[in-house]
Amino acid sequence: MRWIAEAESLRLVPVRVAAPGAEEVTIAVRACGMNPVDYKIPPGPVGFEVSGVLAAVGPGSRHEVGDEVLAFRVQGGYAEALTVRARDVFTKPPELSFPQAANLLLAGTAAAEMLHLTHVGARDVVLVHGAAGAVGVSVLQQLREIGARAIGTASEASFGTVREFGATPTTYGPGLAERVRALAGSGVTAALDCVGTREAVDVSLELVSDRDRIVTTAAHDRAYAEGFHAVGGNEASVEFRDRVRPHLIELAHRGRLTVPIARTFPFEEAPAALRLLRSGHAGGKLALTLPEGAR
Ligand SMILES: NC(=O)c1ccc[n+]([C@@H]2O[C@H](COP(=O)([O-])OP(=O)(O)OC[C@H]3O[C@@H](n4cnc5c(N)ncnc54)[C@H](OP(=O)(O)O)[C@@H]3O)[C@@H](O)[C@H]2O)c1
Repeated sequence: MRWIAEAESLRLVPVRVAAPGAEEVTIAVRACGMNPVDYKIPPGPVGFEVSGVLAAVGPGSRHEVGDEVLAFRVQGGYAEALTVRARDVFTKPPELSFPQAANLLLAGTAAAEMLHLTHVGARDVVLVHGAAGAVGVSVLQQLREIGARAIGTASEASFGTVREFGATPTTYGPGLAERVRALAGSGVTAALDCVGTREAVDVSLELVSDRDRIVTTAAHDRAYAEGFHAVGGNEASVEFRDRVRPHLIELAHRGRLTVPIARTFPFEEAPAALRLLRSGHAGGKLALTLPEGAR
């Protein structure tokens, strides 16, 4: 079975899982990662990342049946099982649970692309909007690897998360630019917007004069109109994000990159999980889970 996105809802439909061809594998899914894009896409198969156990392996794959894996980018990941290209499948770091592994790479590669586009280095003081969200938390951990200093916006309830990943928290809302100026001392040198609100973009433009050092995950229209970066949506992005996947898995393997999970839902409860995701305040990542041998 798999979930299909319709105009305003999800529908569970039976599906025949194809046997893997050359350089393909079939995954018995244990967790489906959930991302805001899942409710922004047109009707059709939903879900871009999963983790699970290999149920079948086609010729030319470097994996074996029984391997615990994660996969990104896939199509229709809200599924009990799926056959995918072997090149999009990676050994699951044992440090991560299935729900964590299923949520590592979409947010992680977006975060890596933000740092790449704005060429952040150790001397930077970086403003991160939405620092306690999925992309934000990955950004904070990757900034910590680089050695840059980070100031992150979040609701007060999420300050603990921002601190846990090495940044100084401040609330979003009126007066944000002044609060950040006071915290930054000599000034902010780059702004990474993981939210896409008007406030996040306005404050980024106010505090960082060089637009090459501003990036957003969500305010693409403003990025194109006002000359700063947006992640995703082009070939260079796909190429970069595919290339950075092994590096992120290696970081997770070394305990340097983790994924806070707010809540898991049984596979059958995908509509309720998606409603919580839409709220924008899930407090961490969400995953749909399937028991071992569900398929
Ligand atoms: N272009 C891409 O490739 C790409 C990739 C990944 C994500 N995205 C987009 O990036 C955005 C974030 O994704 P995500 O997975 O990180 O979402 P998420 O986990 O739901 O995080 C959203 C965060 O935004 C914060 N927030 C909510 N309202 C806010 C406001 N008015 N001002 C500032 N912060 C606010 C929340 O913090 P509190 O709960 O503390 O309020 C929450 O931590 C989404 O729009 C998503 O579609 C794009």
